[in-house]
Amino acid sequence: MAIDPKTAYWTGALVNMALIVALLFSGLRAIRSGRVQRHLRLMISAASLVGLFLLSYPAKLAFLGREQLELWSRYHVWVLRFHELCVFCLVVGGGFAVYRALSLGLWNREGPVRAMDTRGHRRAGWTAIVGGSLGILSAAYVLHGMYTR
Ligand code: HEM
Repeated sequence: MAIDPKTAYWTGALVNMALIVALLFSGLRAIRSGRVQRHLRLMISAASLVGLFLLSYPAKLAFLGREQLELWSRYHVWVLRFHELCVFCLVVGGGFAVYRALSLGLWNREGPVRAMDTRGHRRAGWTAIVGGSLGILSAAYVLHGMYTR
């Protein structure tokens, strides 16, 4: 049975998102064990995969077009909207976390960093991790709808 190209694209996007979430949790584990350089590498890798998806999406719209949401159940449309909100949190939170880390020079600070300086980075980072985690769960439900429709 031939797979619909849009479903194939979203299957790839789900695999990409699973990698992003795995990298975010590895990055979290790294910073909790004090390994700043490893945290930096893992989080930049996660951000690069998010960037890859953001580049691929306009190409998908241009070549494959939009989804026909009028054919979807309303539960799948609601979950899709929730999923889009999660991706927004992932992108904005992750972008702000990287921006704060770079502007504070967190990767080469000598000695302990003051908690009040890193508060913005931590909040943004957690926004990205929660957004990514709920985003993958909602994406799995949306994709399940595509396979069973
Ligand atoms: C998408 C990118 C990033 C995300 C999602 C992220 C996420 C986080 C999170 C959630 C924490 C808090 C961990 C906890 O609560 O125990 C944290 C802490 C930290 N991050 Fe990141 N991070 C990112 C990028 C970076 C970069 C590029 C650096 C540069 C080295 C960095 C350096 C640090 C440091 C030094 C801390 C410890 C701060 C403290 O002790 O208060 N992060 N990060």
